[in-house]
Amino acid sequence: MPLVLALETSCDESAAAIVRDQTVLASAVASQVEEHARWGGVVPEIASRRHVEALPQLIEQVCRDSGVTMAELDGIAATAAPGLVGALLVASVTGRTLARLHGKPFVAVHHLEGHLCSVQLGEPLPPGPYLVLLVSGGHTELLRVDGPGRYVRLGRSHDDAAGEAFDKVARLLGLGYPGGPAIEAAGQNGDPLRFALPKGRVSRPEGGFYPYDFSFSGLKTAMLRLVRALEAEHQAGNEPLPLADLAASFEQVVAQVLVERSCRCAREQGLGTLVLVGGVAANRRLRQLLEQRCGLDGLAWRVAPLAYCTDNAAMIGVAAAQRLAGGQSSCFDLGVAARLPLEQAGLLYESQPCF
Ligand code: KG4
Ligand code: ZN
Repeated sequence: MPLVLALETSCDESAAAIVRDQTVLASAVASQVEEHARWGGVVPEIASRRHVEALPQLIEQVCRDSGVTMAELDGIAATAAPGLVGALLVASVTGRTLARLHGKPFVAVHHLEGHLCSVQLGEPLPPGPYLVLLVSGGHTELLRVDGPGRYVRLGRSHDDAAGEAFDKVARLLGLGYPGGPAIEAAGQNGDPLRFALPKGRVSRPEGGFYPYDFSFSGLKTAMLRLVRALEAEHQAGNEPLPLADLAASFEQVVAQVLVERSCRCAREQGLGTLVLVGGVAANRRLRQLLEQRCGLDGLAWRVAPLAYCTDNAAMIGVAAAQRLAGGQSSCFDLGVAARLPLEQAGLLYESQPCF
């Protein structure tokens, strides 16, 4: 049961946590959302500077809240890939320095492996293999998980990630950043069936469609056309845009596409459990639809606890504890990487670092 201090700074949340195996002893997140909101998205330079300021206090806070001292830890973990390089470096350099100083193993963690592990912070999972729908600001992937560190990608987005589509459409509707929570709030009392929107399928060169893949760029363009047409209509009558119906209809079609293709994949691949993780997993309409559809299809389902859907360090700690329990840790010379496919997460534990 490894006891781990975990750090996360891959994008715009600075986070620290102390985790024993799958139990969170303390977790703290400092969001920079307000700072980036006025630019309409994450500004990498600002993100790095804020992480440098926030991280030391967060580490002190989780040590104080849990009563755990550095001497008691079995390892110190930090997200090393993928993400913004300058931002990743903050947790990685801090983690490696603390690990050296206190004579502990350093465990680099793949951010998406962290998201996959976030579901373990809730109810226990039925025995694998299972299918994970990972939907965040940077990724939309369907992954078969055969065991810790053993992943096979079965589906993906060919353009925008689901969270990115939420963020771009929110900007179009003038709802601010981050888009997911803003669209969810705006669409709460809207009519999700008012506007028919495309479900974005990806053609195969040999004909037909990739059954488990996603595309959100056509949906984004459809929303733009719809909004421009409505603006022309409504300006003539001096009426405001039907924002609630627009937001609800967009949310509905995204949730439908994600759930329909994931359930089909689980059924066809003989996987009895569907797991939902990542920032977009916080979306209520998506969670409800997943529950309904899995019920109809006779699939078991699990969703990461709401508090651990968006970026946090507790999920990084669970991933690190698993790697440590499997006898793995990272080289102190390991750097960070902006991109690294999840299937290559094992590279983080090689004795000769590849970056
Ligand atoms: O996992 P995450 O915190 O960061 C990444 O690893 O990307 O995901 C952030 C994304 C953002 O695009 C945000 O708009 C989206 O998750 N998101 C949501 C909700 N909360 C966050 N999307 C839909 N509904 C939400 N309630
Ligand atoms: Zn994330």
